[in-house]
Amino acid sequence: MENTEFSKFIEELKEKSDIVQVISKYVPLERKGKTYWARCPFHGEKTPSFAINEVDQYYHCFGCKAGGNVINFVMNMESVDFMGAVRILAEMANMQVPEFKGGIKQSQDDASTRKEHRDRLLALMKATAKYYNENLFAGKNPEALNYLVNKRQVSREVAAKFGLGASLGYGEVVEFLHSKGFTDKEILDAGVAKQNNYGKLYDSVAGRLVFPLIDIMGNVIGFCGRLLEKADFAKYINTAETELFSKGKTLYGINLVKKKKQTNPQDEIKYLIIVEGQMDVVSLHKAGFDTAVASMGTALTEHQAKLIKRFTDNVLICYDGDFAGKKATIRGLEILKDNGLNVKVVSLPEGMDPDDVINKLGRDAYVKMLKEALPLIDFKLELVKRESDLSSKEGRSKYIEKALEVLKGLDSDVEREVYIDVVSEVSNTNKDFLKRQLRGLDVDTDIVEDKKKQISYSRQAVQTVDNAIIKAQKFVLSCMLHLKPFAYFPKDISYIFDGDEYVQVANAIESARGSVSSKQVIEKCEEYLGEQFSEVFSEVVAYESAFGEEENEAKYFNDSLWMIYKNYLENRLDELNKQVSSEPDLTERKKLITEIAEIVNKIKNKKVDLQ
Ligand code: UTP
Ligand code: MN
Repeated sequence: MENTEFSKFIEELKEKSDIVQVISKYVPLERKGKTYWARCPFHGEKTPSFAINEVDQYYHCFGCKAGGNVINFVMNMESVDFMGAVRILAEMANMQVPEFKGGIKQSQDDASTRKEHRDRLLALMKATAKYYNENLFAGKNPEALNYLVNKRQVSREVAAKFGLGASLGYGEVVEFLHSKGFTDKEILDAGVAKQNNYGKLYDSVAGRLVFPLIDIMGNVIGFCGRLLEKADFAKYINTAETELFSKGKTLYGINLVKKKKQTNPQDEIKYLIIVEGQMDVVSLHKAGFDTAVASMGTALTEHQAKLIKRFTDNVLICYDGDFAGKKATIRGLEILKDNGLNVKVVSLPEGMDPDDVINKLGRDAYVKMLKEALPLIDFKLELVKRESDLSSKEGRSKYIEKALEVLKGLDSDVEREVYIDVVSEVSNTNKDFLKRQLRGLDVDTDIVEDKKKQISYSRQAVQTVDNAIIKAQKFVLSCMLHLKPFAYFPKDISYIFDGDEYVQVANAIESARGSVSSKQVIEKCEEYLGEQFSEVFSEVVAYESAFGEEENEAKYFNDSLWMIYKNYLENRLDELNKQVSSEPDLTERKKLITEIAEIVNKIKNKKVDLQ
């Protein structure tokens, strides 16, 4: 398919995907004038600051600054890429995403065959999951059902929620998939089967109880199988890493958390509980803790941290009673913290995991443990304390060394102050001494601290500028973009705007000169901005519909434009004044002085002489 043909398709898709209808599938909307409002699905909020403009087919959140067109919305909402969003919208609009064929760049060809292959594998996985599931529920593997219901106390209802299943043996699934027209290569690529030394395919989770692994889009991407008998070795087997499945990129149960959020977007997800095993997730859901997800026995990755952050800022770690000893798991917790999550650690009785607690001690006991969860730092200090012999001098000094190492990771002085108290008490050591020690350890973190400070200062500075000028710029650009009759757009004036992003947006609007509707302007701007597409742009689109006061708009526009221009003139004046004082050449100085006089005059006359 030709490129132009594809853009035509996208155009038609956008035409058929009304942004109000699409967004209303995810969040309830309320109409006020020509703007629809909602509580933003991308950040927790109590009062709506998420605006959708039906005419422009654009959304913007004044709280978190998310914004864009309908495709952009789906990309954010479903955390998919451009083509992913296109596919979802095409399905909603009942449109066929056209195939890429002939006469185009090689890479597009490759992309489309890759996509076809991926789609085949996803279909294969879906069929396999259904097949395993039917095996279990039709009683074809009675041992598996018996194990699940009687040994593990999982009801059929809960099993159905997770789509659990059972493999019947080594060859059955392969035969089944052949009968559905899948090739050996596809079965191997999907990781459903492996190949033995004689080239024969066999079920990767042969004879096991099967947990389908489902990604955030609801696709089955892998399987995990548990042996029905007691075993110390390979109790669980996961699908190998495939083009669909990567252990570090997914969390078991995250699809259910997403479903929960989509069914009830207004209900804030207070926290996710992170456990180690699938069985723990199943048991916690059974007991009503429906935000439990599992890392499947490995240390957490940055990818997983970001996945969590989409739903909540708070994490309760609930690993097996003995996890503390494993360094890798603790490092995983740092990754959560580094990604801005608040981490608390739940302590479970020695030798128990969440599944044991629910089944042996009951729900209430578990609630109590959740309530007693310790912030990550407290938890670490507790660990250090537990492994130290505080009765000996040597033990105490070891404790101090390790405890200070923990405190080094703290970001704020206030926190350090508080925790130095704790360490001082436990080790019975003078506070000032500990502080000096900590500072000694701290040479390298000092540099980081300084950088942090610099950043927060400059942020403050930016915020104080987000004053009248910024507001005026947004309003003026918004009026121009919406082709307001009074909003003339003097040619080549982008330079008067303050800030690169604003200059960019002004240039973009300039590039759309001659458009007949705001929608057309927006499309041309998007084309112009391309990768540089910014928060400022979507706010500019949203600005007038949200704040415009119809009657005074024209006057407000003129005032705002003057304010922007005056700001520009004043900046220029500063510059010239500086130059004059250091300019040795007399004629040059005269020139500068003439320009200064002109500007002073302009400011005095309050005249926007840009046309
Ligand atoms: P655990 O050994 O803690 O098992 O492994 P569990 O979750 O308590 O399982 P049950 O209660 O005995 O059935 C935690 C997780 O580590 C992964 C699995 O994802 C498991 O859920 N694991 C464990 C493996 O991948 N392979 C194994 O052999 C063992
Ligand atoms: Mn267990």
